[in-house]
Amino acid sequence: MNIGKFKKFLFNQLESSDIIASYIWHLKIHKKLWPGTWDLTSLVLKKTIDENLNDKFQVKEYLDIGCGHVALFGRYIKKKYSSIKVTSSDLYQNVCDCAKFNIEKNNLDISLIQSDLFKGINKKYDLITANLPYVSTKFKHNIPEDTVRFNSRYSGDKGTELTEKFLKEAKNYLNPNGKIFLGVNCYYIPENICLKLIKEYGYKLDKVIKKKFNTAVVFIIN
Ligand SMILES: C[S@@+](CC[C@H](N)C(=O)[O-])C[C@H]1O[C@@H](n2cnc3c(N)ncnc32)[C@H](O)[C@@H]1O
Repeated sequence: MNIGKFKKFLFNQLESSDIIASYIWHLKIHKKLWPGTWDLTSLVLKKTIDENLNDKFQVKEYLDIGCGHVALFGRYIKKKYSSIKVTSSDLYQNVCDCAKFNIEKNNLDISLIQSDLFKGINKKYDLITANLPYVSTKFKHNIPEDTVRFNSRYSGDKGTELTEKFLKEAKNYLNPNGKIFLGVNCYYIPENICLKLIKEYGYKLDKVIKKKFNTAVVFIIN
């Protein structure tokens, strides 16, 4: 096994460990659909949440779009800031069912909506977080095509398909002074392409959040 493959193997082991997940997120994983429960982008999103939800940016209504099978951010935010009204949503019914199971096991008051991006969303939010698929279909990772696992990772030829769809609509679901924390692993979509898209779709860039030894980036935009 070469060094690159070994690093990937090691990271997959970390991502799949429920003990490590509960150490980082202070959340129990009760059920999952595949081994991994977080990724490099989730780590930068966590840092962004920890550093930016404060007196200057107070959130009453929060939406996590593409919440995944353990409803990571919805649960993390609800546990940390119980007064925030949290909505978690995902495209797939089985992902939503699994997320709901994890939410209910924690007795957390979180609305769960099955929705293709904003199709099933009819409210505005102070904060929207997104860690949507951004891997180009040119990258092959031995994941069978046309599976939920495949579609939760890949996003068209350039990897930008879903990010662009998201950016096209998201501003219509933001309250005045609302913010979007958009997470992208810039190993897959370079930072300059993300910045170009953010500008093209008419957003103002507030901050760019990074973490040492991590290729993922969170763009705070509005
Ligand atoms: C990379 S996972 C992120 C999961 C979780 N938010 C996290 O950070 O660990 C991407 C999620 O987006 C969901 N997704 C993919 N396409 C979507 C769409 N069109 N609308 C809503 N969710 C979508 C997938 O099902 C998957 O759960």
